[in-house]
Amino acid sequence: MPPKPVILPSLLSADFSALARDIDAVTEAGATILHLDIMDGHFVPNISFGPGVVKAIDRISGLTLDTHLMVTDPDAMLEPFRDAGADILTVHVEACTHLHRTVSRIRELGMKAGVSLNPATPLSTVTEILPYVDLVLIMSVNPGFGGQRYIPSSTEKIRQLADDVRRRGLDLVIEVDGGIDRTTAAAASGAGAQYLVAGNAVFGAGDIRSNFTTLQKLITT
Ligand code: DX5
Ligand code: ZN
Repeated sequence: MPPKPVILPSLLSADFSALARDIDAVTEAGATILHLDIMDGHFVPNISFGPGVVKAIDRISGLTLDTHLMVTDPDAMLEPFRDAGADILTVHVEACTHLHRTVSRIRELGMKAGVSLNPATPLSTVTEILPYVDLVLIMSVNPGFGGQRYIPSSTEKIRQLADDVRRRGLDLVIEVDGGIDRTTAAAASGAGAQYLVAGNAVFGAGDIRSNFTTLQKLITT
């Protein structure tokens, strides 16, 4: 895992009719990890895409695939996404009855294991699982859609998690997802987020390459 903070383009805001073109653009701009949002229309009120599309992306891209499962039954989906080429698989704490079993299985399948928290879910729900995961994803919007506003209290949540990780000497990446743009990126990375997901701010208005570069500079300088 890279020590410096990085921007992860979220393909949810890319042009679904030209995914290869948009992936090329962020790759040329220096992206190393793609964020893939999987929504089942049940855990969140939207449907995105599944393992078939992930497999197609894996075929055309050498980038690391960071796969965010916003689904009610993640256990049923671990192998299909591993087979599709996911490198990091993140499940929501709210969706897992036996979270330790689920993250252990993700690692057994050869992927990095992540756990995600919705904005209203306290950090205390992941206290016990931290030693068993490679990544914690703090949702800074209510998941389901791109282009929402960053919830300001997320910054303090990231800071508290980063303090806990440091205090306990844990080895994991802190990721933040939702509303990351030119005004919020620096605060989130300053609080301790190392992976910053950005959808609308990369693929929305303007040039994809320069959008990515501008955001990346904001968190590294
Ligand atoms: C939201 C998704 C995000 C989304 C972020 O449910 O998990 O990854 O793509 O989009 P922006 O950056 O536009 O808030
Ligand atoms: Zn996401």
